[in-house]
Amino acid sequence: MRLADSSAIDARRRLRPPGIAFGGDYNPEQWPEEVWAEDVALMKEAGVSLVTAGIFSWAKVEPRPGEYDFGWFDRVMDHLAGAGVAVCLATMTASPPPWLSRLHPGILPETADGRRMWPGGRQHYCPSSRVYREHAVRLVERLANRYADHPALEMWHIGNEYGCHTPMCWCDESAADFRRWLAERYGDVEALNDAWSTAFWAQRYDSFDEVLPPRLAPTFPNPAQQLDFARFSDDALLQCYLAEKEVLRRITPDVPVTTNFIGVHKPVDAFRWAAEEDVVSVDVYQDPHDDSTHIAAGFIFDVTRSARAGQPWMLMEQAPSAVNWRDRNGPKPPGRMRLWSWQAVAQGADAVLYFQWRQSRGGAEKYHSAMVPHGGTDTRIFREVSELGHELGSVPEIAGTRSTAEVALVLDWNSWWALELDSHPSTALNQMEIALAHYRPLFEDGIACDVVPPDRDLSGYRLVVVPNLYLLKEPDAERLTAFVRGGGHLLVSFFSGIVDECDRVHLGGYPAPLREVLGLRVEEFWPLAENETVDIRHADGTVGRADLWSEAVVPEGAQAVADFGCGPLAGQPAVTRHSFGEGSAWYVATRLAPEAMRALTQDVCRAASAGPLLPGLPEHVQATVREGDAGRFLFLLNHGRDAAEIQLPEPMTDALTQGATPTDRLTLPAAGVAVLVEP
Ligand code: GAL
Repeated sequence: MRLADSSAIDARRRLRPPGIAFGGDYNPEQWPEEVWAEDVALMKEAGVSLVTAGIFSWAKVEPRPGEYDFGWFDRVMDHLAGAGVAVCLATMTASPPPWLSRLHPGILPETADGRRMWPGGRQHYCPSSRVYREHAVRLVERLANRYADHPALEMWHIGNEYGCHTPMCWCDESAADFRRWLAERYGDVEALNDAWSTAFWAQRYDSFDEVLPPRLAPTFPNPAQQLDFARFSDDALLQCYLAEKEVLRRITPDVPVTTNFIGVHKPVDAFRWAAEEDVVSVDVYQDPHDDSTHIAAGFIFDVTRSARAGQPWMLMEQAPSAVNWRDRNGPKPPGRMRLWSWQAVAQGADAVLYFQWRQSRGGAEKYHSAMVPHGGTDTRIFREVSELGHELGSVPEIAGTRSTAEVALVLDWNSWWALELDSHPSTALNQMEIALAHYRPLFEDGIACDVVPPDRDLSGYRLVVVPNLYLLKEPDAERLTAFVRGGGHLLVSFFSGIVDECDRVHLGGYPAPLREVLGLRVEEFWPLAENETVDIRHADGTVGRADLWSEAVVPEGAQAVADFGCGPLAGQPAVTRHSFGEGSAWYVATRLAPEAMRALTQDVCRAASAGPLLPGLPEHVQATVREGDAGRFLFLLNHGRDAAEIQLPEPMTDALTQGATPTDRLTLPAAGVAVLVEP
């Protein structure tokens, strides 16, 4: 078993040739059996090597409690094996069958205001429900025993998009589970009272039995209770996953397991979950109507790659063209699906899969694109999908290679949950917006970036970017301080280092645990009104803009890089720099407009000697490198609308247009992709 190495996704490859896996969700139960033979024939035509099957099959394989009908699924697996298509087999537990909630209505989730969520959609189960978990585990046990030795089985796909529709449940069973979880965390109720600051508003508990989830209340529920409920809810989902994983490990110890994250999703702490997976996988749906969709996707890809420290990962779902769930669902214009698929590979993916293989005829997703559209194979979508399948298949040597970065951006789910609680100086702070505001200039300037939790080893980085790390534990603050003292560079944005893990303010002047390294104190928060902006004046006379937030900063060793140019804080520092130990630390006390943020990030990167992979690239061209035993691959992707002229540092060959002579200049058309290798 080689689960921990770089090619974890290859750990049990039997059918599939080595290389980037290509395929999608396969839902054969939606079609009569005659269609299945055509399915596998077309899969071969399209270069499909891996499908993820059975995600929504529970009601068909267990039509009545404890009565199983696997015969039809055996035939699906045999068809696939016969065609040499490997299976990432779903555990089938994502959508319970109607009989389960009819017999046990207690499995149905409840909202904070006590409304029950009924079956009829999917994911209608309370994550704490013992009955749900028992039935899920019973099914998984059957499945694992039945298919353990099936030649098509390559890996397990546990559940599906945990927390997508039901990330939290406030029912009585969840309440009891929450109390159990709290008793384990705190030991005795006085520790809970202390952690939750229950002296406030007469909230003191005399016993754990009195504690409830933060249900609808007349006013703000206790923030520490809300924060613990977010932790608990993430954990309840993880327990569902782990219960299934335990069965799979026992019966099929050499088969890797994964579960697909929904992009970077607030309810599910990807860093914590990734430790429980053999391969990380993610679903990313770029929006053709959004010009910067590839930057948001780039962020998700970097989080996914970093979640298991650079190990290759799987793009488990993307749409071949349009989705059905936005208000307006634009198709992907010609070439964009290829470009965005290659983007995932360029950022470390070893699998490019779609939702879904054949477009549904009925049901809620019939207008969601699929690899085989309603119109069949004589369609743009099928042609583009097949071309990509063969193109990816032509460069197997990329699989298993990795990338490195000199810059890390810090993301912490606990802090995210705490930052976005109510009753704050401003409820307009959004963790993803501010993280992306910091990520964007790095992406645009071609600076490779990992996204890491605050307790990760930072010693390999030159620059660490910390957007809104509101909740900060002392040891993590000490790690950041030591990083700068030892010569690292740090960029921290406003409202960071404010509370401890119980959402209690760190006393001693904001942001107490970061004051030393930043060389300043924040005396007052000064959030701005909706649509209000302020000027930022730099020493060289340039003026930028900022909005959302400002702070009264008192320097204690830090130098002002820019001041507020107007408003009540006029003349006070808006951006500072502090030389500390062998390194330096910047602080941004407001939300800079994108141009000002880009200029600041460039200054900070220059000081940190963290440069782009390829200096002087045209705007909108992304460059990444993956390397390993098979060589060094330079990926160039043109996200712009015009062709781009690119000067390479030395003559190289494009692996996608094999046979071409090495060149040091190339023209990349709009949406063009090149994978360059040194000759
Ligand atoms: C995902 C889900 C798939 C499908 C897809 C449509 O959230 O895992 O089953 O619903 O979205 O975009």
